[in-house]
Amino acid sequence: MAKKIWSGRFLKKTNVDAENFTSSIDIDKNLYSYDIQGSIAHVEMLSKQKIISTAEKSKIVKGLKKIKDEIESNKFNFSHELEDIHMNIEDSLTKKIGSAGKKVHTARSRNDQVATDIKLYIKDIANSLKKDIIKLQKSILNKSNRNLDLIIPFYTHLQRAQPILVSHYLLAYFEMFLRDTERIDEAIKRLDQSPLGSCAGSGTSFNIDRGYTSKKLGFKEPTRNSIDSVSDRDYIIDSIYCCSVIMMHLSRFCEDLIIWNSSEFNFITLGDEFTTGSSIMPQKKNPDILELVRGKSGGVYGNLISILTNLKGLPLSYNRDLQEDKSPLFSSLETSMDCIRIFTKTFESIQFNEKHIKDGLDAGFLTATDIADYLAKNNVPFRKAHNITGKIVAYCEKNNKTLSSLSLKELKRFSSSIEKDIFNFISIERSVSSKKSYGGTSKNNVRKMIAKYKKILLK
Ligand code: ARG
Repeated sequence: MAKKIWSGRFLKKTNVDAENFTSSIDIDKNLYSYDIQGSIAHVEMLSKQKIISTAEKSKIVKGLKKIKDEIESNKFNFSHELEDIHMNIEDSLTKKIGSAGKKVHTARSRNDQVATDIKLYIKDIANSLKKDIIKLQKSILNKSNRNLDLIIPFYTHLQRAQPILVSHYLLAYFEMFLRDTERIDEAIKRLDQSPLGSCAGSGTSFNIDRGYTSKKLGFKEPTRNSIDSVSDRDYIIDSIYCCSVIMMHLSRFCEDLIIWNSSEFNFITLGDEFTTGSSIMPQKKNPDILELVRGKSGGVYGNLISILTNLKGLPLSYNRDLQEDKSPLFSSLETSMDCIRIFTKTFESIQFNEKHIKDGLDAGFLTATDIADYLAKNNVPFRKAHNITGKIVAYCEKNNKTLSSLSLKELKRFSSSIEKDIFNFISIERSVSSKKSYGGTSKNNVRKMIAKYKKILLK
């Protein structure tokens, strides 16, 4: 049975239920590599500052590396009695190298240690998440490039609005994911200060060099206030918020694809390998992956509320409540990463049902706004032009006609300003190519944007 590191002042052993209840090792063992990285930087600093000897430092570093190997080859025995990853590693170190191991915790507390571990974890994992988002963005660019001639309607209120290039639609998501990667960068920039050396919360009387450990661990600088360093977890909130926004964007994208995949829309076909069947209805091919991604976004939002609530009533500084910060953090980053990865594959498997989309473009009066614009360009005030066009639409509806099937004679009945050239405006293709305003859907614009996005991704 392991003797507790803090057992000095206790007369009785900890109750087993209490031990299991307070233990966090099942979750925080996830931090092992960052904990070891932090401890190595710490003892190198202690030795540089002559707080421990070079020989002691070497022994400790060797022992820590051995522990890392053991954990990675599944040979390490994690124990609940030793509470968390920090004490599991420290205990094993002392068992391995003897008394030098007992010096590793000089001028350090678990309070600054855990904050350092978490920040290192976030920097690492959030960067991987960013890379996964960039892969998705590349897929979006590829698909946009390959479908530059495909026109679809876009919707407002889920009612047919106007014709646009499908590429333009997809690139809207590119923009959202671009902001998501920027948000990750900003979150990382904000947490880029090393808490190590803040100790329990007041700093230390040892002559430590916090600048040295900060640099060793790849932080920009050390934190400036030891109490803040062990108390706050706003960087966890930032990270989960980043995940929440990513999941929200993904979820909307899923919803679009789910709708497009329905027989009612029939805009796309999803790859068989990324769909599932029904246990009773043999004809079904369900978009379960997309639905699960949409569903999992709720869990990530829940994590955000969980950490916000954990912190709201906590007096400074460290309180054990903070141990509950890890599970929402890990789960949010892992879920987001899983979702981005599987979504990318599913997205790559979609095929647009071009013929069906094209055949349906005449429905829904998609170029009504173009007619109103035509009239306005011929000196009819826009409000009036809107009204005239509304009447044309009503006429079509009543007589079961589409805008493009109207003759000049029929059109002229609604306004004397209408001439033959109106047919240029009624055509779906002309409508799209006329949207040349910056950020609009004309093919030229979209092509330029794709080039721009490619450059951004290369940066
Ligand atoms: N397992 C603890 C946590 O994750 C580590 C810090 C413990 N500090 C303490 N004063 N009990 O928060």
